[in-house]
Parts: sequence; C-alpha cells; structure tokens
Amino acid sequence: MKIIVTGGAGFIGSHLCERLLKDGYDVGCVDNFLTGSKLNLYNCFQNKKFTLIQHDVIKPLSRSIKCDAIFHLASPASPNLHSKLSYLALSMETMLVNSQGTLELLKLAKLNNAKFLFASSSEVYGDPEEHPQKEDYNGNVSTTGLRSVYDESKRFGETLTAHFIRKLNLDARIARIFNTYGPRMLKADMRMIVNFITQALEGKRITIFGEGKQTRSLCYIDDLIEGLIRLMFYPNTKGQIINLGSTEEHSVREYANLVKKLTNSKSKIVCSEKLPQDDPKKRKPDITKANQLLGWQPKIDLKVGLKKMIEYYKKTL
Ligand SMILES: NC(=O)c1ccc[n+]([C@@H]2O[C@H](COP(=O)([O-])OP(=O)(O)OC[C@H]3O[C@@H](n4cnc5c(N)ncnc54)[C@H](O)[C@@H]3O)[C@@H](O)[C@H]2O)c1
Repeated sequence: MKIIVTGGAGFIGSHLCERLLKDGYDVGCVDNFLTGSKLNLYNCFQNKKFTLIQHDVIKPLSRSIKCDAIFHLASPASPNLHSKLSYLALSMETMLVNSQGTLELLKLAKLNNAKFLFASSSEVYGDPEEHPQKEDYNGNVSTTGLRSVYDESKRFGETLTAHFIRKLNLDARIARIFNTYGPRMLKADMRMIVNFITQALEGKRITIFGEGKQTRSLCYIDDLIEGLIRLMFYPNTKGQIINLGSTEEHSVREYANLVKKLTNSKSKIVCSEKLPQDDPKKRKPDITKANQLLGWQPKIDLKVGLKKMIEYYKKTL
C-alpha cells in the first residue's frame, strides 16, 4: 500500500512517515522544505520503502503518481509573530497551500480512488466562546484579523474536503489538530514549548506573552500520530471531522514553570509583551468523538513527554 504524506519533512509529517514505514507501508513524502528539513527524514532514508519528492503542492503532482492514501499536512504552522517561519511571515504560502494545495491533492486522491486526510487545526475555532470545543462548534474567527491567513485557509481547506466527500463521494476525513509537542519542532519556529525549552537550556529568560494566564493543552507527538493513523484507516471514518488533542489544560505560566523545573534551569520567567492579536485565551478539545469512533485518547503523561523533548534539545542545540 502506497501512502503520500505532504509536509512529510516537517515536525508532525516526519514522525508520521517513520511510523507508516514501521507499519510496513510504502511512503512518498512530498515537501518543498519551506519550513521542514531533510534532517528530519534521517531515519526514513534508511528504509527502501521511502521516497522523497521535492515539490510545491500548490502545483499539481505528476498524474503518474499512484497512491492508496494521502495525508495532507503541508502548511506552515507556527503562530509566533517574531518567527520568519510562521504562517504570519509566510502568509501567502499558507493561504495557498491550504486552498489551492488542498484542491490539487483532493483531485489526485479522486484520480487514484485513494483515502484522504486533511490536517486542519484547532485554529478553525478561533478565540472560542465554547469551552471545551466540540466538532460541531462553528468557531469565532475574524475573516480579516492577523491570524486569518491560517484560520480561514484551514476553514476553506475543510470546505473543499467536505465538497469532495459530498459531491464526488471521496473517502476523506478531517483531523482538527490541537497543540502538539515533541522532538523535531524547529527552534526557529518559536512555538511556545520549544521557546521555553531552548530558553531554559540556554540559560536565557523564559518569555511569556501577557501574564501567561491563557491556557493551552498539549498532546505528545506519538499520541497524535496514533490518532491520525486510526482516523485514516479505521472503518466508518469517511466524512468524519475529529478533534485530536490533549484535554489536560494548563496556563502558559504553568508550562513555563514546569519546563524550568524539568530542565533544572536558573532562567527567570518574564512577561514579554501584551497578548498577540486574536491569541486564544482558552483552548481545549472535547475528544468524546475520537474516543467513541477511534478508541483514541492521549496516553503519554505531560512530564514524560516534556522530558523526552528536553533530552532531544539537549543533544541538538
Ligand atoms: N504542530 C501543531 O501543533 C499543529 C496544530 C494544528 C495543526 N497542525 C497542522 O499540522 C500540519 C503539520 O504541522 P507541523 O507542526 O508539522 O508544521 P511544520 O512546519 O513542521 O511542517 C509543515 C511541512 O509542510 C511543508 N510545506 C509547507 N508548504 C508546502 C508546500 N506548498 N508544498 C510542499 N510542502 C510544504 C514544510 O516544508 C514542512 O516540512 C500543518 O498542516 C499544520 O497546520 C499542526
């Protein structure tokens, strides 16, 4: 069975490629290295069942490519204003990969009669007025706000996917991924937990936005990968929209304190600036549906996951 993973050289994609290879699939990783890296694929290159296709998915892939399933993960994902790799800096690329790119990949899935999974995001809920967020909550998103380039393009990617299911009977599904953490998140991405870990390990000030009262729930990468695979391959998943994330909620300040403790760091925790525009104050998934349909829930304890991540950055920094 041949599986295509777009964005396979990124954080989530590279872990997914590795797991699919371990499960015995042929894997084709499609990536243009906008925010990903060949280094993330080091383990995959050792496997003969792995192919790398350097390609921008906004353009059609060769019609000669045959596949049985497509995981469409390609998209910048970091919200940090100060990162050159954030979806704010790469705004046009983000809008196009989630709209035009999704359309091209849906067409390829249809041509191959392949299964399809669109990697959407908790950001489709915007700054939610409902807490925790269920899949039937329509969200509170500004169409023109700073983060809309990501939020609205993910929403449109979902719309395209739903259209292909409804009109063309495609075997597709949507994963709404909540904050995920683990090894291989790029330091340059400047996502919250990487920032905290690298600042703590380098003895720099640990910077939090605002007072750090805003909450987040973080899911360890291995748990997320298990959820994505079940959502693609389990029966009765066609047409489903599923939240995948952790329900363990902590304030940003609590995460900073925990990282400081686990790294034995002397770094000071400081409030840097006010909250970025449209920064959600609360974010936590309702995962009842994932539990019922996929028997899925995160298993890896936060401290265990953070320790694994800290070990990785100790070696790579
Ligand atoms: N990491 C999270 O917490 C999180 C949360 C919600 C949703 N997601 C979604 O999951 C997916 C993967 O996120 P990630 O954290 O691994 O991000 P990442 O930036 O590490 O990986 C994205 C990959 O997509 C590639 N890419 C981007 N545009 C491309 C294009 N036009 N053509 C080909 N490749 C392209 C990049 O080079 C990179 O390798 C994204 O769609 C993201 O929106 C991630």
